[in-house]
Amino acid sequence: MNHFHLLADKAEMIHVVASSVAELIRAAEGPFTLALSGGSTPEPIYARLAELDLPWERVTVIQVDERWVPETDPASNAAMIRRSLVVATGVKFLAFPVHGPTSQVQEYGEWVAALPSFDLALLGMGADGHTASLFPGDAALQADGWATTGTAPVQPQTRGTLTLGALQRFERAMVLIDGADKTETLQKIAADKGFPIRRVTDGIAQVDWFITQAAAGKTIQLF
Ligand code: 6PG
Repeated sequence: MNHFHLLADKAEMIHVVASSVAELIRAAEGPFTLALSGGSTPEPIYARLAELDLPWERVTVIQVDERWVPETDPASNAAMIRRSLVVATGVKFLAFPVHGPTSQVQEYGEWVAALPSFDLALLGMGADGHTASLFPGDAALQADGWATTGTAPVQPQTRGTLTLGALQRFERAMVLIDGADKTETLQKIAADKGFPIRRVTDGIAQVDWFITQAAAGKTIQLF
């Protein structure tokens, strides 16, 4: 089931998404697995979450995907998640093992598979309709198991990513979409279920789409 939330601007998105995530963490009685994306949209949302009073000891944060670069590289998703959320909260964080060869993504998949629950994945959407590091036409979309390597059409090209099947194990997803470069893509994905973002979300029971007015544009047809 898809729910669409239209937000006036990025400030409203930060407030609404952080509150929604917090509500789910508070409502959960046991362990809570939170999968976080990289990219530029979510960092202030993670920083806002870190300011809230939440039972972080029950939460495990994992990565939806990673660019295969060391954490000292400005492109590192893990570094962004650490500085915005992990350092301030002390939450348990499983990062992709980028210090080793890409074959170690299998090991990451094993760690993820062993988690007790798959509660919430925060996803983004690229202007080409990708989500996680599942890019249109890439073999990563066909991969079995929990984690795989992927190839992005932009730098850094080498990626580690949860697979389509792993992402679909999550009970819920929130998709965060901001920026005028996403308006045309939203229209395309409304009409075509083949884009990776649709393939992932169509297999998740509850999906909340948070879309700023800048991304929605004048008219969008939702699904
Ligand atoms: C990454 C991602 C990726 C991201 C989208 C949207 O590492 O790049 O996790 O899937 O979520 O590219 O990124 P923006 O939110 O920055 O547009």
